[in-house]
Amino acid sequence: MRVDIISVVPGVLESPLRHGLLRRAQERGKLQVVVHNLRDYGIGRYRQIDDYPYGGGAGMVLRPEPIFACVERLQAERNYDEVIYLTPDGERFTQAVANELSLKENLILLCGHYKGVDERVRQSLVSRELSIGDYVLSGGELAALVVLDAVARLIPGVLGDAESALTDSFQAGLLDAPWYTRPAEFRGMRVPEVLRSGDHEAIRRWREVQALERTRQRRPDLLDAENV
Ligand code: ADE
Repeated sequence: MRVDIISVVPGVLESPLRHGLLRRAQERGKLQVVVHNLRDYGIGRYRQIDDYPYGGGAGMVLRPEPIFACVERLQAERNYDEVIYLTPDGERFTQAVANELSLKENLILLCGHYKGVDERVRQSLVSRELSIGDYVLSGGELAALVVLDAVARLIPGVLGDAESALTDSFQAGLLDAPWYTRPAEFRGMRVPEVLRSGDHEAIRRWREVQALERTRQRRPDLLDAENV
């Protein structure tokens, strides 16, 4: 998969792309990430990228020309499945959306800043808008990284254990069961006996019950039919 990220502050993206899972995915040739500094497409001698909003109001708006120039240049080179704009008023980003995006070939992630982008960018350039939650971030970069991380770990061959992404929280519409490792007893707290029994069927059933119970207690909304 190839992902192009368009940003006003590309430096924010650097460390997460060079460490952990995103680094491994790139090293294994499963993911190619190309970061574009919107400033490189800025207008005039000062490489202007934003301006005051028509009609007044606080904050700046990203101008359409640099964004169109950058996206259209990329689109001339290859076909993109989606041009995704990260914005708090977008569609809620969920595991289901991550699953869907993990099957795509080429994606563009457009990060907003200040008051966001000129509406004409959203009208005619963007194919999908995603929000990572009901709060406002200072820019779309952290949201883009959240989306990228959740998607990259679903690409076959990125995770060591091919099974582990499938058994994640949310994949079955449920939260995960509790997990334990050694020691068997720590400060008087014992690991549930069933997990040490070696009875795989009993363990599977225990985890299923725990996952259901945890979901019922913490996220009953996930069990509502309309959210499944
Ligand atoms: N940009 C600013 N806030 C955001 C959010 N909650 N989700 C996605 N992009 C954003």
